[in-house]
Amino acid sequence: MSSRSQTEGIAELVVAWQASHGRNHLPWQQTRDPYRVWLSEIMLQQTQVATVLDYYERFLSRFPNVSALAHASQDEVMGLWSGLGYYTRARNLHRCAQQVVTHHEGEFPRTAEMLATLPGIGRSTAGAIAAFCFSERVPILDANVRRVLTRVLGFEEDVALAKSERLLWSAAQALLPENDLETSMPRYTQGLMDLGASVCTPRAPECVRCPLMARCAAFERGDPERYPVRTRRLIRRSESWHLLVLRDPDHRVWLQRRPASGIWAGMYCVPVFADAASADAFLANVGEAPAIVCSDLQPFLHVLTHRDLHLHPHLATGCFPEQLAVDGAWFGPDEWPSMGLPTPVRKLLGSTQAQLW
Ligand code: ADE
Repeated sequence: MSSRSQTEGIAELVVAWQASHGRNHLPWQQTRDPYRVWLSEIMLQQTQVATVLDYYERFLSRFPNVSALAHASQDEVMGLWSGLGYYTRARNLHRCAQQVVTHHEGEFPRTAEMLATLPGIGRSTAGAIAAFCFSERVPILDANVRRVLTRVLGFEEDVALAKSERLLWSAAQALLPENDLETSMPRYTQGLMDLGASVCTPRAPECVRCPLMARCAAFERGDPERYPVRTRRLIRRSESWHLLVLRDPDHRVWLQRRPASGIWAGMYCVPVFADAASADAFLANVGEAPAIVCSDLQPFLHVLTHRDLHLHPHLATGCFPEQLAVDGAWFGPDEWPSMGLPTPVRKLLGSTQAQLW
């Protein structure tokens, strides 16, 4: 770890840099309304700013306040989220809005500690909301900030260890501004995020543009990319999914809701099978269905955080029974846009539309 003198004054440097070089015109920075700030923070958790901008505006025009969101149907929320990915966020968002309405009289709690009791709000997101909206003197530690801090501090421990996590939260707390908290807390918090996003990047950080260069242990040691230290490699798993698109003469498709946990939880999807033989067996038993035409479509890869999904779509067109023996229902192309469909499934349905009957 670096010495005390090296860490002194860091908050002031970050605050001054944020004012002159940080992002200050994002829509969620023009408000201290916790509903709006919370919505932006959840959207930004795993999605780039450029993508979030559109979704944020659309969400707010449909749900201008927490009560409107709480009273919406889960299907509508999932539909508006569709395309942002990481759909657990959308389900938690909805549950969180409902809890704010039922347990907090429609007002978000005003401390990070209380905010962190709500669904989908982890310690770092709670810190960000509390700092942005209420200027509370609390730290954040998302992936970008973890990178900035481990570099500045020259933190040599494996960040995957629980002990490292505890040490980094303490360090983050110790570095917080001490003065003028009303303005410095939001600026400092945003400044750390901005540094991580634009200067202190995972690869090829632009140290010469960094206000902390002279205090940065990783820069001094000549290899900032070595931080954050990870000694164990992430193991990626690979899976094959056979997606059976059943299409009737009206171009309706049979869609089922995915289980409440796991990949694409709670979203709509065509029936999924572990292999082609299981999909065939299902099709053979689907009921009275004259003139089914079946074709295998081009397989494609869909990359998730910890998993590679090899998707093998099969298209079966024909006159199917109105009710099948499995759960789900027929949905026409006019209904797809507002449904919570995973992006690859949405694309697949779009492309089967173009397939000859
Ligand atoms: N990522 C997470 N929170 C953010 C924010 N407030 N501004 C920009 N990027 C972010």
